[in-house]
This record gives sequence, C-alpha cells and structure tokens, in this order.
Amino acid sequence: MLAALISLSLLLLSASVTGSTAFEKKCLAFEPEKFVPGATRNVLQYVAANTTLTFPDNVAACNRGTQAVTANICRVALSINTSKQSNITFEAWLPEDWSGRFLATGNGGIDGCIKYEDIAYTSSNGFAAVGSNNGKNGTDGLPFFNNPETVIDFAWRALHTSADAGKSLVTKLYGKSHSKSYYLGCSLGGRQGIKSAEKFPDDFDGIVAGAPAVDFNNLVSWRARFFTITGAVGSPDFIPATAWKTWIHDEVLRQCDTIDKAKDGIIEDPMLCNFNPSTLLCKGNSTGNCLLGPHVQQLKKIFSDYRFPNGQLIFPAMQPGSEVLAVDRLYAGAPFAYSANWFKYALYNDPAWNASTFDFDDVRAAESLNPGDIRTYPISLSGFERRGGKIVTYHGQQDNQITTFNTIRWYNDLKGYSSTAAMDRWIRFFRVSGMNHCNSGPGAWVLGQGGNAAAAGVPFERKKNVLKAVVDWVEQGVAPPYIEGTKFVNDTVSLGVDFTRRHCKYPLRNTFVGANFKDPESWKCT
Ligand SMILES: *[C@@H]1O[C@H](CO)[C@@H](O)[C@H](O)[C@H]1NC(C)=O
Ligand SMILES: *[C@@H]1O[C@H](CO)[C@@H](O)[C@H](O)[C@H]1NC(C)=O
Ligand SMILES: *[C@@H]1O[C@H](CO)[C@@H](O)[C@H](O)[C@H]1NC(C)=O
Ligand SMILES: *[C@@H]1O[C@H](CO)[C@@H](O)[C@H](O)[C@H]1NC(C)=O
Ligand SMILES: *[C@@H]1O[C@H](CO)[C@@H](O)[C@H](O)[C@H]1NC(C)=O
Ligand SMILES: *[C@@H]1O[C@H](CO)[C@@H](O)[C@H](O)[C@H]1NC(C)=O
Ligand SMILES: *[C@@H]1O[C@H](CO)[C@@H](O)[C@H](O)[C@H]1NC(C)=O
Repeated sequence: MLAALISLSLLLLSASVTGSTAFEKKCLAFEPEKFVPGATRNVLQYVAANTTLTFPDNVAACNRGTQAVTANICRVALSINTSKQSNITFEAWLPEDWSGRFLATGNGGIDGCIKYEDIAYTSSNGFAAVGSNNGKNGTDGLPFFNNPETVIDFAWRALHTSADAGKSLVTKLYGKSHSKSYYLGCSLGGRQGIKSAEKFPDDFDGIVAGAPAVDFNNLVSWRARFFTITGAVGSPDFIPATAWKTWIHDEVLRQCDTIDKAKDGIIEDPMLCNFNPSTLLCKGNSTGNCLLGPHVQQLKKIFSDYRFPNGQLIFPAMQPGSEVLAVDRLYAGAPFAYSANWFKYALYNDPAWNASTFDFDDVRAAESLNPGDIRTYPISLSGFERRGGKIVTYHGQQDNQITTFNTIRWYNDLKGYSSTAAMDRWIRFFRVSGMNHCNSGPGAWVLGQGGNAAAAGVPFERKKNVLKAVVDWVEQGVAPPYIEGTKFVNDTVSLGVDFTRRHCKYPLRNTFVGANFKDPESWKCT
C-alpha cells in the first residue's frame, strides 16, 4: 500500500516535472534567429509562471522596467533588420499552454515602447503573443531625424514584420501553424490595426482597434494647434488648469450630464452636448469663477471643428467632458510634444522648427508629405472584409487625446461605401462613456483592452472583454451586440466591482430608463 502510494506520487511528481521541463528544453533548444530573415538573437529564455521579468536595457522613458509573467512562456527577443538603415527590437512570448491563436500588440503615442503588459496579458490567455519597439526606442522623435526608414517602420513596417516573424516562430516552435491571428492596440496602436487591415488584409483575422489615431497627419496638426489657441502659460489670456478641472468641467456637466437622463457625472453621447461657454462670461465686476471674452473664444475654438479658412474640415472638434485631463497635455500652455517631435524630426528634418509658428501651411505640409504613408484613413477595407476579417473598435467618450468625433467621422465615411447593416458584418464601433484615452475615467471603462492591472481585470468572456468578443466573432460567428464595461471600486480589481454598463454599438446611444444608474438593466441602447 505504502509502496504503491510512493510510486504513485513519484509518478505524479515526475509527470509534472517532465511536463514543464519538456517545454523548457524545447524552448532552450530553439534557434529563433534561423527562421527570421535579418534577425539576431537578444534573448532566449524559459520563464516560469509567477516570475517578474526585468528589462535592464529598456530605455527609462518607456517606464517599463519590469513585468509580471503569469504563464509558463518561452521568451524570444530578437533584433530584426527592416532595411539597411533600420531595425526593430522584437519580442515573442510563446506560452506552454497555447490556444493555437497568434496575436500581435501595438504601440502608443509616437513612442517606441514594447507593451510588455499587453504581451503578458495575451500570452497568459493562451495567445502566442508578439510586440516590437515599432522601429525605435523611447518616446521622443529624434530617431526619425534624417531616417525615413525608421519612419516607415513606425508607420506600418514594424507591425507587418512582427506578424511575419511571429507566425514563423510559432510554426517552428510548436510544430504547427497558428489557427487564427489577432491584433490588439489602442491610440497609435488602434491606427496600426486599421493600417494593417488596409495594407495587409491577410495579416490578422480579428482586430481590436481602440481610440484609433486615424487620419494621423491631421491629428498631429489638430494637437499642434491647441498651443496656438491657449497661448503659453502666463500669457495674458491663459486659462489655468484649476479652472478647467473644476468650474469649467462642472458647467459642461451642468449643461450636458442629464441629456441621457442620468445625473452620474458621465455624458453618454457627447454628440448631443452643444456646450455653450458663454454662460461662464463674467458679469459686471465679477472676478470669481468666470471667463472673459477672449477665454470664451478659446473654448469655442476648442469645441468647434478645425477647418481651413475655406471651410474644409481638417479635424473634428474636441468632445466636451474631456477637459479634466485634456488640460494636462493639450491645453497645458506648452507645445504638444508628440506633434512638435513629429514636425521637427519626421516631417521637416529641422530640429529648430518652432511650434509657436504652427499654421495652415504646416497642416498642408503634414498631409501632403505623409511621412512613411502614415495617414491611415481608409474609406473602404474591402480586402479585409472579403476575407472575413472582423474589427472591433471602441473609443472613450471623454478621450482627452483623440476626439471621439474623429472615429464617428471615420465610421460614417466607411458607411458611405457600405451601410450600417453591411458594416455590422465586419466592423463594430462601441462608444465607451466615461472613459478617457484608452483607459481610466469615471465610467465602466474596463473592457479587457490591455494588460494594465485594471484594464485586464474582467473575465475572458465575450460580453465583458473586447478581445474575447473579437475572437468569438472570428471563430464562432457570434458578433458582439454591445460591450459591457466594468468599473472597479477605486479602479482596483481586488476591491470588487462598483458597477457595469453596456456600451452601445454605434450609431445606437445609451439612455437611462430605470432607477439606478449603476444597474446595467436601467439603460437602453436606442
Ligand atoms: C543587420 O544590419 C546591420 C547594419 O546594416 C548589419 O551589420 C547586420 O549584419 C545585419 N544583420 C543581419 C542578421 O542581417
Ligand atoms: C501563481 O500565483 C498564483 C497566485 O499567487 C497561484 O494561484 C498560481 O497557482 C501560481 N502559479 C504557478 C504555476 O505557480
Ligand atoms: C533599442 O534598445 C535595444 C535594447 O533594449 C537595443 O538592442 C536596440 O539596438 C535599440 N534599438 C535602436 C534602434 O536603437
Ligand atoms: C539597430 O539600429 C540601431 C540604431 O541605428 C543600431 O544602434 C543597432 O546596432 C542596430 N542593431 C542591429 C542588430 O543591427
Ligand atoms: C463695479 O464695482 C464698483 C465698485 O465696487 C461699483 O461701483 C460698480 O457699480 C460695479 N459695476 C457693476 C457693473 O457691477
Ligand atoms: C518661436 O516663434 C515665436 C513666435 O514667432 C517667437 O516669439 C519665439 O521667439 C520663437 N522661439 C524661438 C526659440 O525661436
Ligand atoms: C477609494 O479612494 C478614496 C479616495 O482616495 C478613499 O477615500 C476611499 O477610502 C477608497 N475606498 C476604498 C474602498 O478603498
């Protein structure tokens, strides 16, 4: 009896040991650089679940010195040449417990930062996941200077190269090719996903594109213009941040919060909010919380479409409701760094370019030079649609960096070639109320959209997780009717759920029809 128990436990022990060492051995015997043209090996390591990885070479500006890993993975890090003058730093995290799915992650801002948190999040959900530095390291634009090849990497080539490389590595390591391929990104990463669907429709079967930075050149110009509206900090008509964050935002809410019938500090549909800043005009001798004439004009410009003198649209208005965070960057009284870097290094190759002189000529130059073909404003994605690809896009309704009105415009321009019913078969757009740029905010903003602790805090199920929603759409033909977002208490998963809310598929909008705004049943998409 005892002997039988001992041999049984020895058997179990050796099974579990060989179970992990087999994958570990396979990983360590792998020669990834042999399967990717132009590659050199930086790292090959087996990483056991519950390890915290450190990245000593990662530039400080990326603010990603460590990453918790929660699945057993084979980690491959390569440098891959993309031209004679350019290369990408590439990571593939290949999980032992592989679902057969492949996934690529995107980047943000104008940065060259690998989103380790997204690679960890997706590989722990069974995806063979890859990411790259998008052609350069760090967050500033200097590596673009006199280096158009790096701009091309940034615009589209790094992602395409990563998808090719990652799929080859998957086939070689696991001995079979992936079943379906996916993409996950937000902001610049949202744009990368749309660009991929346009230029390489076969790269991905399903794409999650959050707050996509589409019409990129005009987005850069729109952001550059705020400094010319607000003036510098301390200039005569400069509106201080505290005003934006308190009484100006309060007035936006006073005018617009209850259009959706719920007084919850969240504007469901900012398209219905025709904010009138004149109500804040100082009366008589008042010097309290009020605006002078030139201040009112600033607000009117910020909340109006940006147009050329002849009326032609450059970029849509900022949506009201986003000011609390928008003032930290766009209305902060300093040139917006991403835009200034883009003009200096990617567009003009002129480090002395002065952001104070920004004008319509710069808008025209950005759009006509279109560095690296970064524009990304497809009005048809027929190649992607024809092969059965699916896109889920979402946008925070108080996005402080990219106005949600731009995604609405893009969706409507696509519809010009299709119809809502036809688009519903391959692209669905969810407007996420109370969400800032890609994450955070007072609303039910957690959708499984990324690997930050809170953003990934929801179960991997289609109704609550955008990534699983696109997976089930691709693999089972079940299209998401809505995405139910989650608000955690203090945005802390361990404190539990505060409330959830279903975010409607555009063009539907949410209206409060019940008694308790924290109850998802109290809302209706109409
Ligand atoms: C990558 O490019 C660099 C610079 O051109 C070159 O020195 C290196 O040999 C290339 N590496 C591979 C693996 O092709
Ligand atoms: C990792 O840690 C979690 C939580 O501490 C635990 O539940 C899990 O069993 C651990 N996994 C492994 C493979 O050790
Ligand atoms: C980026 O940093 C990595 C180290 O993390 C380095 O190997 C690589 O050469 C850098 N890439 C560029 C383009 O400077
Ligand atoms: C990648 O490019 C960077 C910047 O040009 C360079 O410093 C680095 O040596 C390159 N890496 C390889 C492997 O060619
Ligand atoms: C402004 O203040 C002065 C002095 O307090 C007062 O005499 C005057 O009536 C005020 N004007 C208005 C328009 O309220
Ligand atoms: C930038 O342009 C502004 C407006 O023309 C000018 O006042 C300022 O001195 C310039 N700054 C630099 C560093 O040239
Ligand atoms: C949530 O945060 C607020 C403000 O920081 C704090 O007062 C409150 O105690 C926190 N609630 C919980 C449950 O931790």
